[in-house]
Amino acid sequence: MDEFKVRQGELFCEEIPVLALVKKYGTPLYVYSRATLLSHFHKIQTAFAPLSPLICYSVKANSNLSILKELAAQGAGMDIVSGGELVRVQTAGVPAARVVYAGVGKTRPEIAEALRAGILMFNVESEPELQRINHVAGQMKKVARVALRINPDVDAKTHQYITTGTKENKFGLSIPMALGLFREARKMKHVSAVGVHMHIGSQITSVTPYLQALKRLSVLVDELRAAGHALEYLNMGGGMGIIYDEEQPQTADAFARAVVPLIRPLGLKLILEPGRFIVGNAGVLLTSVQYVKRGHVKSFVIVDAGMNDLIRPSLYHAHHQIFPVKKSRSGRLQLCDVVGPICESGDFLGKDRHLPPLAEGDVLAVRSTGAYGMAMASNYNSRLRAAEVLVSGSKAAVIRRRETMADVLATELGAAKAKK
Ligand code: LLP
Repeated sequence: MDEFKVRQGELFCEEIPVLALVKKYGTPLYVYSRATLLSHFHKIQTAFAPLSPLICYSVKANSNLSILKELAAQGAGMDIVSGGELVRVQTAGVPAARVVYAGVGKTRPEIAEALRAGILMFNVESEPELQRINHVAGQMKKVARVALRINPDVDAKTHQYITTGTKENKFGLSIPMALGLFREARKMKHVSAVGVHMHIGSQITSVTPYLQALKRLSVLVDELRAAGHALEYLNMGGGMGIIYDEEQPQTADAFARAVVPLIRPLGLKLILEPGRFIVGNAGVLLTSVQYVKRGHVKSFVIVDAGMNDLIRPSLYHAHHQIFPVKKSRSGRLQLCDVVGPICESGDFLGKDRHLPPLAEGDVLAVRSTGAYGMAMASNYNSRLRAAEVLVSGSKAAVIRRRETMADVLATELGAAKAKK
């Protein structure tokens, strides 16, 4: 459920007709609904209430400072994967004690900064990384709390680029390797291994792979305890799928009902890392039609947003619903591809869609783009990244102004001057 509703033929975000936002802020424009964002956060919070988990929102899904602030104010922690994301959560005022840090390639300076900040823990992905954390923490005379990320080798049945928990993936440690590394960790003076972590993939619409993975993790936890390791945390990662089109993902309640019985007996503090579930359906991308070009077999609706604004269709063949924000023209539906202005055949937002007749200036909404939309935007073709607006009731606030060419050129012009 979300707060983007069509009323009398016109799309609203909460109490505001999105066309009013387009008029004021132009396109391409990302628009988010605060009520939707918070309601999805609360759905997870309520569903898992019996275990009072720390919900660490996955910053990579949408790292806008205002989104982070909104969630932090609800008590959310954050899951980060880079020094840049650490600065973002610090800037948003998120307490470091609610921050967990994953990723296979943490650099020494990144580890040092996170230790200085006092984050809750690192989710460690390999033996050399654990050694590096021990070394950096030693230099800083600190003890780093870590969880070892387990790769439980289950197929999450999602797109191959966003599955992460099989032995072919670069993420985490196999169970036998993890057992060995927990033993190593006990000998290290500057790490304290306090938990196990997993994240098996993204846009997972069935609870089954989670259950398989949790069963494997439970056996591991028992073995670790028998060997005398004092564990405190179980981090189940993120990945809960959402409805883009015809998916039927489990609700947060059904998800919790299925997994809580496996988690509760372990007696560990639960951490969750949802990204898409919280923010995915809280955002739409608005784009204006530039041209309608009639082809031999179909029409091309050429819009002012491209793969640099939303790369998911090009990268994963992801489906996002696309529709005009206002019904203005009547006529039969037409077969068309909705494409951007970028010089690549892979630059499309939707293929083989049936849309009503369109003309220059019409505005289309690309739905469910709150997660991994703006966060993956680039300047390809020297295009300026979109503005972002957050709506709350009948109020709208710009939470990222539209980029200018001066922003884009700043790092290069600076470099040219420094050379002289
Ligand atoms: N935790 C870890 C360690 C992760 O790597 C991820 C996502 C998450 C949590 C959050 O997953 P979520 O709940 O959002 O599914 N760009 C892709 C998705 C990549 C996900 C990467 N990791 C897409 O647009 O579908």
